Amino acid sequence: MCGIVGYVGNNDACPFLVSGLRRLEYRGYDSAGIATLTAADGFRLTRVAGRIDLLEKSIARKPMFGTIGIGHTRWATHGPATEENAHPHMGGNGLVSLVHNGVIENYESLKQSLISRGYLFKSATDSEVVAHLIADTLKHLPASSIANNSESIDRYVEAVRQSLDQLRGTYGLAILFRDQPDLLIVARCGSPLVIGVGKSEQFVASDTSPLVGYTDRIVYLADHQIAVLRPDSIQVQHRDHGKIRPDVQTLAAQETEASLEGFEHFMLKEIYEQPQSIRNALRGRLDRDNATAKFGGLNLTPQQLRSVKRIILTGCGTSWHAGLVGEYLIEELARLPVEVEYASELRYRNPPVDTDTLIFGITQSGETADTLAALREMKRKGHHTLAICNVVGSSIAQVADGGIYLHAGPEIGVASTKAFTSQLVVLSMLALYFGRLRFLSYEAGQRIIRQLEQLPETIEKTLECHGQVREVAAKYASASNFLYLGRYYNFPAALEGALKLKEISYIHAEGYPAAEMKHGPIALVDENTPSLFMVPQGAVYDKVLSNLQEVKARGGPVIAIVDQQDSHVMSLADDVITVPQAEDFLQPIVNAIPLQLLAYEIACIRGCDVDKPRNLAKSVTVE
Ligand code: M6R
Repeated sequence: MCGIVGYVGNNDACPFLVSGLRRLEYRGYDSAGIATLTAADGFRLTRVAGRIDLLEKSIARKPMFGTIGIGHTRWATHGPATEENAHPHMGGNGLVSLVHNGVIENYESLKQSLISRGYLFKSATDSEVVAHLIADTLKHLPASSIANNSESIDRYVEAVRQSLDQLRGTYGLAILFRDQPDLLIVARCGSPLVIGVGKSEQFVASDTSPLVGYTDRIVYLADHQIAVLRPDSIQVQHRDHGKIRPDVQTLAAQETEASLEGFEHFMLKEIYEQPQSIRNALRGRLDRDNATAKFGGLNLTPQQLRSVKRIILTGCGTSWHAGLVGEYLIEELARLPVEVEYASELRYRNPPVDTDTLIFGITQSGETADTLAALREMKRKGHHTLAICNVVGSSIAQVADGGIYLHAGPEIGVASTKAFTSQLVVLSMLALYFGRLRFLSYEAGQRIIRQLEQLPETIEKTLECHGQVREVAAKYASASNFLYLGRYYNFPAALEGALKLKEISYIHAEGYPAAEMKHGPIALVDENTPSLFMVPQGAVYDKVLSNLQEVKARGGPVIAIVDQQDSHVMSLADDVITVPQAEDFLQPIVNAIPLQLLAYEIACIRGCDVDKPRNLAKSVTVE
């Protein structure tokens, strides 16, 4: 959701800015733009409503020069996706140019006050307000006492600082000044920014992906920090507490540039990466000797963990679905009460939470605004907060008191696939860990470990169902509605399957516990509404079979996911997809594969933009 890039150095800024925006495309956007600056010609601006391809074509027609520049991909919030609303925005009659991520909550009152002082607004955005505000503040700061260039730069920084003081809401900002053609100021409050430290050049981006290949030395900007970037220097300061020594870190080697490697889409590549991403999630975390799991970063002693009485799992979308599976796992294996909360509700709901409750935020990106806010709120109340997170160094990873990384590698497709299965693997290990602290026997722990160790191979075999899935997709791609049904561990799996189909194929789909059908949803069943049932062997096999028969009896087409040559199901279902057998608790991971592939194949048949579905963003950084 919105991406920022920036450059100041001795090379042409434009190539980095364009390639950086490309690498941020996965976050989701609907317009894009770049501004470069030269001492001789001032700002040059190119903006488009649409994709980076269009931006590049526009730049090819009218090249942009300059060794300093900023770029942005915008996911519309205030005002539609038009060229006028695209960033960069100009302030103070061309004095300032900036790009902004986040939402300025008090923009309307600031705008009215700026209009009354003669500022003209060209867009409907909250961001343009910030550009005029900085220009206006700068205008009112005395320039007369400025003796040299560094003092003069202090004046620009002060103008930014004073302007930020007036903002309510969230921002990641990259700001240029017409009169300072080697000064780039960036500031953060709630929207991530990373600085790449180069040799006589500095880079800025919303995450590390644009920096790969340019530099491996990075500084994560924290909330309320402002960085002053010039070709040969970086100076970081806290908005209120003065200068800070920048913490330069090395970008991990595995954070390499994302490429399709022969796959048609990132989503498909990421589906096929799951045997490996699951291996990575398991690596070094299974303790055979003690029949348990181990985690390095929970930052709690076994005694403290033993005294936990309740767990809250919170997240959004797919990560919330992972939480639901986590609830089943932890309650069953560890006999610990678990609640799963939508982060967007938890942050405002103010439920009574006992002191011995542990809070886990589940998130792929580590940037989801609601999950971040929910964790902050819980932390403020004194709870120990932990993150189950994929993106190293992300905002949530920084805010939480500890956590577990997924190590799934970059997930580029907007539809979460490998991060979901890695979340389930981590939650299974957590359930094992808490179980072994409590009532789970050594034997039971050993059995779970064996099954987890087997899982990457099981997933490799599961991927062999792709051919069957393709046939099913071809048959049902024109359906307008779909039902996804499962029980026990496969109920959250059904919710996740329905979400995958909705988000990338734009087909309406609902997930339900299969037995709930007769309490209402069965009224939807007709010959045009396929129902997908997960009917593997296991604790609730017979029950799901009865539910399947109820749908069949009403003339609805039935697709069944089975885990053996199940003649009974085969005689009832119209179509069957076969996956390998797995214990109940691992079935949501195994079944995720055909569900992801089905959504993918149907989306392809319908000609949808699989990796960048309409209206969606990869990192949802607004609430
Ligand atoms: O990065 P997060 O896991 O915090 O993101 C949460 C949701 O926005 C995300 O899972 C979303 O539902 C995905 N597009 C689902 O595929």
